[in-house]
Parts: sequence; C-alpha cells; structure tokens
Amino acid sequence: MKQTGVSVKLDFISVGEVMVQFNAVSPGPLRYVKYFEVHVAGSEANMLIGLTKLGFKTGIVTRVGDDEFGKLITNFLRGEGVDVSRVKLDDSAPTGIYFIQRHFPVPGESTVFYYRHGSAASRLSPDDVDEEYVLSSRGVILTGITPALSSSCYTAVDKMYRIAKSSGLDIVFDTNIRMKLWRDASKARSSLTPFLQAKIVFTNPKDLEILFPSQPIKEAVSNILDRGCEIVVVKLGDKGAIAYDSKGNEHRVEAFKIPIVEDVIGAGDAFNAAFLASVYRGMTVDQALLYAAAAGALVVTVRGDVEAQPSWRDLNAFLESFKGGVVLR
Ligand SMILES: Nc1ncnc2c1ncn2[C@@H]1O[C@H](COP(=O)(O)OP(=O)(O)OP(=O)(O)O)[C@@H](O)[C@H]1O
Ligand SMILES: [Mg+2]
Repeated sequence: MKQTGVSVKLDFISVGEVMVQFNAVSPGPLRYVKYFEVHVAGSEANMLIGLTKLGFKTGIVTRVGDDEFGKLITNFLRGEGVDVSRVKLDDSAPTGIYFIQRHFPVPGESTVFYYRHGSAASRLSPDDVDEEYVLSSRGVILTGITPALSSSCYTAVDKMYRIAKSSGLDIVFDTNIRMKLWRDASKARSSLTPFLQAKIVFTNPKDLEILFPSQPIKEAVSNILDRGCEIVVVKLGDKGAIAYDSKGNEHRVEAFKIPIVEDVIGAGDAFNAAFLASVYRGMTVDQALLYAAAAGALVVTVRGDVEAQPSWRDLNAFLESFKGGVVLR
C-alpha cells in the first residue's frame, strides 16, 4: 500500500481522522431532530482546509472506509485543495461519523456524539506515515485527538512528530483533549505531554487543567514555554484568546460579538489556521490574533466546520465591517 513520489512541496501536513458530520438542522435534543445536514470535518483536516483557503499547500495522512462516506471525504478534501495522495481507502473498516446537537442543554453550545470506534482511521499506524512525505513539508500540525483513537494512531502521530523533530521541521500542536475519547485524564496527560515540545502550541484552560492539574494558567504556560516552545495560544471561546511568547509578552484579542451563533464547533480549528497563516506570512502576533479571532467568529455563524473558513479577502471584509475589532494590547 506504500505510495511514493510527492509531486509538490507542501507547507503543512497532518495525520488524523476525517469524518462525516451530521449536524442537526434544528436545535434541541437529538431524539426530536428530523433533519441532519451532511458535512465533512475533523480537527486536523479543518486546519488544513483553513490554511489552503489562505494560500498554503497542505496534505493529510489518513484512512477512510472504502465506502460512500470515505469517497465523499476524499472528494471533499481534494475539492478544497488538500493533497490526498496519502488518503488510504480501507475495505475492512467503516468511515467514522458523528452527530452534532445544538443549543441544548446549554444555548450557544453544541454537543458531539461520536460513532467512530473501530473506524478505518482508528487503524492508522506508523506504516501510513512515510518519511518522504513528511520531509516534503515545511511543518506538521498535530492534535491531541488522533493519539486518543488507538495505540496504533498514537504511534502514527509519534512517528510524524519524531521525523519532524529530527529534521528540524516546524511542529504545531493543538492539545484538543477530548475526554469522550480518553476517558482517563491521567492517560491523556501522560500521552500528550511529550508533544508540547512544539514550536507553536494551541490550547485552552480546560486542557491545561488536565495537563497541569491545579496550576494557574500562567504557570502551565511557562512550563510549556520552558520546553522550547515559541508561542502558546490559550483560546477562551467567546472571551477571545491570549498568546504568550517566549520573550515573556502577552498578547490578547477579544472575541467578536456575533449576532448568530449556529454552531461553535470548528471555531478553534479556523482560529488556528488563520493564526498560522498570518504568522507564516510574517505578521505580528497581535495581527495574527485578530485574523484568527475573525476566522473563529465566521465559523460560528454557520453549521459545518469549514464552509465559512475565510480567504484573506473575506477576513479583510469581516474586519472592515467590525471597524478593526478590539485588540486589548
Ligand atoms: N461564540 C463565539 N463568538 C465569537 N467568537 C468565537 C465564539 N466561539 C469561539 N470564537 C472564536 O474562536 C476562537 C477559538 O474558539 P475556542 O476557544 O472554542 O477553541 P478551542 O479551544 O479550540 O475549542 P475546542 O475545545 O472545541 O477545541 C476563540 O478564541 C474566539 O476568537
Ligand atoms: Mg480546538
């Protein structure tokens, strides 16, 4: 099954599960929902698509079932411009799917119900991560989701991380701890802590509490920066985000006040993509945070994680309409 021959130099690659998302058209408990809208999503793929919309070349390492949903995902990723040369069709396991319940029991929030156990992607293994492909990129984007799927997924992520580390490629890590997958917080902590030696780490207070129990946020962030990380971005949902750099500076952005909150899922991935795109284009951390908050806000206004991810033109139009947004510092 090993493929060779990468034709284009990629900016970012990732490894992770891409699923079909069934998003409830009406809010409320799923047992009463009559219609679901079909989307393609997965944290790693969301970030890659977001980066592609902002002009970067991306590729994904994954497995999908050799079924209709697997074909839907492959076509969708290809259509968005993500390199799919390392997407394998697995005829012995299905494509993972999940459902989203919106605005219940907490208005403004969404709840995820996974049907992904034993999926094709949960069988990802180190054999799926070929060195040539990793070395064809400038950087790898990893999240705390894939290592939770199975021990072979963990070793696949670890392999990509090690190749990137030993070759001096940039590593971006989003802690993205999903307790529905880990169940055990100490397992999440011991498994994910090694990946914190990345160049850029995205996280949030809930994940920091799992990784550094009872430590104040600033102490946990210092702990990550001490490992050689250059920027730690702590995302605070509708409160915005704070980026801490290795020089000891703090940069804050407020979230944009959005009139319609359809589905907050995917905001974090869009935020990451716009932040990375801005930093890799040479912008300041403050400017990157502003674009990131704009991208996060846009995704909240629609169902689906990637459809409302913006181009540069969209971002500038959004910021123009908000008269520049609010940067606190
Ligand atoms: N309700 C909202 N209104 C406006 N902007 C939002 C909203 N929710 C999120 N955002 C924007 O998106 C960014 C990222 O969202 P969030 O903090 O939920 O990401 P996350 O930590 O990756 O979440 P998750 O736990 O789902 O992985 C926020 O910093 C904010 O700028
Ligand atoms: Mg996230």
